[in-house]
Amino acid sequence: MTGLANDETWPDTSSAEALSLSTGADYWTTAAAPAHGIRSLRLADGPHGLRVQNDENPDHLGLERSASATCFPPAVTLASSWDPELVEAVGQALGKEARAVGVNVVLGPGLNIKRSPLCGRNFEYYSEDPLLTGMLAGAAARGLQTEGVAACLKHFAVNNQETDRLRVSANVNERTLREIYLRAFQIALRESAAWSVMSSYNRINGEFASQSHWLLTEVLRQEWGFDGIVVSDWGAVRDPVEALKAGLDLRMPGRPEDKRVHEAWRHGQIDANVLENTVSRMRLLCERTAGPAPASPIDYDAHHLLVRKAAAESAVLLKNDAVLPLSFEPGRKIAVIGELARSPRYQGAGSSRVNATRVVTGWDALSAKADQMGAHIEFSGGYALSSSQYLPSLLTEAVELAGRSDTVILFLGLPGEYEAEGRDRTTIELPDNQIALVEALGETDAKIIVALSNGSAVTSHAWRDSAHAIVEFWLTGQAHGDAVADVLLGQVNPSGKLAETIPRRLEDTPAFLNFPGENQSVDYGEGIFVGYRYYDARDIEVDYPFGHGLSYTTFEYCGLEVAVRPLTDTIAFDAKVRIRNIGKRFGQEVVQLYVEDNSGFLSTPRRELRGWKKIGLAPGEDKIVEISVPRERLQHWHVPTADWAYPGGELIVSSGGSSRDLPLETIVTVPGEDIVVKIDEWSTFGEWMDHIELGPRLFDIIEERGGLKGRMADLLEDEGGGRDAVRSVPLATIVEFPGVPVTLEEVKALAA
Ligand code: BGC
Repeated sequence: MTGLANDETWPDTSSAEALSLSTGADYWTTAAAPAHGIRSLRLADGPHGLRVQNDENPDHLGLERSASATCFPPAVTLASSWDPELVEAVGQALGKEARAVGVNVVLGPGLNIKRSPLCGRNFEYYSEDPLLTGMLAGAAARGLQTEGVAACLKHFAVNNQETDRLRVSANVNERTLREIYLRAFQIALRESAAWSVMSSYNRINGEFASQSHWLLTEVLRQEWGFDGIVVSDWGAVRDPVEALKAGLDLRMPGRPEDKRVHEAWRHGQIDANVLENTVSRMRLLCERTAGPAPASPIDYDAHHLLVRKAAAESAVLLKNDAVLPLSFEPGRKIAVIGELARSPRYQGAGSSRVNATRVVTGWDALSAKADQMGAHIEFSGGYALSSSQYLPSLLTEAVELAGRSDTVILFLGLPGEYEAEGRDRTTIELPDNQIALVEALGETDAKIIVALSNGSAVTSHAWRDSAHAIVEFWLTGQAHGDAVADVLLGQVNPSGKLAETIPRRLEDTPAFLNFPGENQSVDYGEGIFVGYRYYDARDIEVDYPFGHGLSYTTFEYCGLEVAVRPLTDTIAFDAKVRIRNIGKRFGQEVVQLYVEDNSGFLSTPRRELRGWKKIGLAPGEDKIVEISVPRERLQHWHVPTADWAYPGGELIVSSGGSSRDLPLETIVTVPGEDIVVKIDEWSTFGEWMDHIELGPRLFDIIEERGGLKGRMADLLEDEGGGRDAVRSVPLATIVEFPGVPVTLEEVKALAA
């Protein structure tokens, strides 16, 4: 391939085909380049089910109906399982469906960090914690790719809000970027070796993600070793030439008639190796996704059962005043209340919308169970979904039904219009009509069990006392009613744990003063203190903490032992947690391990999740859970050296069933690497003194010239505070004082 060429022969077939690869052939497919051994590939949303559209009328907003496919639970739900194997199994099932209809790239998983509960797309994302996010999104991608379908990790990066998402600049400091927002992608990539990544719409510190050489080439490829393709979000590229040079391979949707890249190539403005890289990466993607479609047809029934299992395993029992699990014994009077019981919300809106193969409502599943078991069951709507205003007639009817029932199963949640791609919420409360309803029902003698359906956090703070039990089902996918019945009736013992904090009030949330920003710009003022890192640092009361989730049995945390490994080992320490099921049922528990860094090397959160394991225990059973923490999980981003670092020191290691229920704790000292900071004349006197090489050399010069004299010498002798004061002064200032026998030039020369 050549760039500059004479007009008659330009472009030659090889170059023309190569250039055509930098954008799609149309809305959902890539161009073929036979001269380079590259066939056309098909892409489709993603992430929790397939959205394969009729090519006549495509869109990227989920407006047009797509071919029917299994609607799996979205990331918000799966995240609460804390179970990478389960998430991988869902990814694999999705991969099978994709493969069967000729889709080569599924646009997901989405793994942006939940910076604010208001983000309209939180239902598509996993967690506020980068480790949990990275491990689970990595598992989803791995599952897809076992079927020969590329995962596409999106939206890279720092796309944490929908407001102004096409223009907004997310202004984030370097440490926060590395430790929180990029970290999730770095971990997911390592866990999955994903074959593609989608660059986001937004800007990062002023630069469009899709045109950032730093992001797409230096960090993603050079540092992390990513060898797949980068595809743009739909319509995210402003300048296709800049995007290509930055490391973006495929601009979508396809704009083959746009010749800007061709023109730039023709005028020698693009290096030959930039285009060659794109060609070889597209070829690699073809190879990775090659192979015939599976011979056996998709077992949609089995996939429906997987949805049911995944949704039930992800349900979070927030509260239970001994009313769950329910039994539908003959004669028992059950009221099912809430419009959501017959018009369920089981997925979010936007580009991820799936045309489900079937949908089971709460009423379908519960009434069938009641018929089987002999309980008496009745329904009342209670509220309308079309408006948040409460209708006295609906409320009165529901209260009357509750009055003649033993138990109310109350379906509450967010109507579809509350959360969707393209816009953020403005509140974390349920609609007023639902709050009025739960409060009114709480006045009756019936036991009130709330089943919640929502894709982003809602606070129960105002009404939780009116309910005897609350189960957060999030968005279950198409087996909605089945999963709800399985959990409420005890077929499945809930084991989900919150992957995000449920705040009490919007005003308490970390980004409250900086969300969603203004003038096309949003400042991430809370820094690394996102989610529980923030609530814990400020000791803020929450509705339910990160990691919380009850069970129908009880676990006792009996003991924690931590064995520290030597510095040469990639594992920093191994924790052994002894846990016992002291209840009467089989149950699963997510044993969580948090670390507080007391090394004092940087400002660090009160505690950070550093490992977990989900295990099952029979009644009376005792197990030792082993969690090994890799050294890199102890590291923080050290800006002066532009690297990850952990200098060693004291750690408080704690374990329990939630970030705020940690009965086990132990203190250990873990070795780390020395941090060699580059110093100059503006480094402090203390930094110079502590520097292994330059400290002694500086003092040799001082001693040769008779030592320090005057005020500086006195202060340095003063252990009562003077010494610390002098140590904190830059050397460039110290040399300005009388009695210091070194010049600024000498200091500069030494540092150089
Ligand atoms: C969304 C992506 C999606 C793409 C294609 C965009 O609007 O942000 O997540 O994959 O459309 O539908």
